[in-house]
Amino acid sequence: MSHISESDAKKITVPHIRGRKGGLPIKALTAYDYPSARLVDEAGFDIILVGDSLAQTVLGYDSTLPVTLDEMIAHTRAVRRATRRALVVGDMPFGTYQDSSEGAVASAIRFVKEGGVEAVKIEGGARRAHIAKAIVEAEVPVMCHIGLTPQSLLRMGGYRVQGKTLETARELIEDAIALERAGAFAIVLEGIPAEISRIITSRVSIPTIGIGAGVDCDGQILVFTDLVGLTFGHTAKFVRQYTDVKAIISDALKRFADDVAAHRFPADQESYHLPAGVVVEVEDEQTLSMPPLGPIN
Ligand code: KIV
Repeated sequence: MSHISESDAKKITVPHIRGRKGGLPIKALTAYDYPSARLVDEAGFDIILVGDSLAQTVLGYDSTLPVTLDEMIAHTRAVRRATRRALVVGDMPFGTYQDSSEGAVASAIRFVKEGGVEAVKIEGGARRAHIAKAIVEAEVPVMCHIGLTPQSLLRMGGYRVQGKTLETARELIEDAIALERAGAFAIVLEGIPAEISRIITSRVSIPTIGIGAGVDCDGQILVFTDLVGLTFGHTAKFVRQYTDVKAIISDALKRFADDVAAHRFPADQESYHLPAGVVVEVEDEQTLSMPPLGPIN
């Protein structure tokens, strides 16, 4: 059953998301492949982010740093094939936009042309504003991401809540304002105190989308595998796991293995059969053409 009502069924665009500022909360989720994107789209989410979190959730890396643009593009193409309504945003991987505006624009354009993304996301605050501006000027909409930015892992020395001091809180607010001025159409706020994201949300005219940033953002995003319980290892405090898909899959795998071991699979209704007359003929033919049983040399 689809959860999309007729009025919800229209394709989501960047101007639509921009227009949701202060209105109906924006529902966003990551997806990484055809089945996850299909489910997310059919559940009526507004934004599907092909997050570079796929480095960890799908490809098994320790951090987001190793994933390449080629890998992101391959996954994004599958997501696009599954998505009818949601806006598909592609996460620019580490190393594809930090060094220069020219490099960033080239990567963003590749992401659009080869991956089919409708917008890109980049991490970093005011010091990436010129990069955001250059990509926007190349006609690719940009979502920015500040606070706990996983691509800054080496600098941060771990995944830590950001903006907890007066100075860093001020910096975050300035970052958001700089990115709005640069032309970003939305900002992801990750791992920051709820009080700061409330201030940022009231200070910028573009939607804020929170993940570990309190309830006062214009929308919320989670990582698909965290939400459905398909993550191995630590999950952050801000995650709400709505189901335990890992346990469901493990149980199904164990029951199949047990059925195979006990000759309970396949059952008759899961097998193909010859028409009755043909069975007799084949059996007779085989009996007649079989050599008499003798010693095997
Ligand atoms: O890569 C990702 O999944 C993200 C979200 C957590 C916002 O950047």
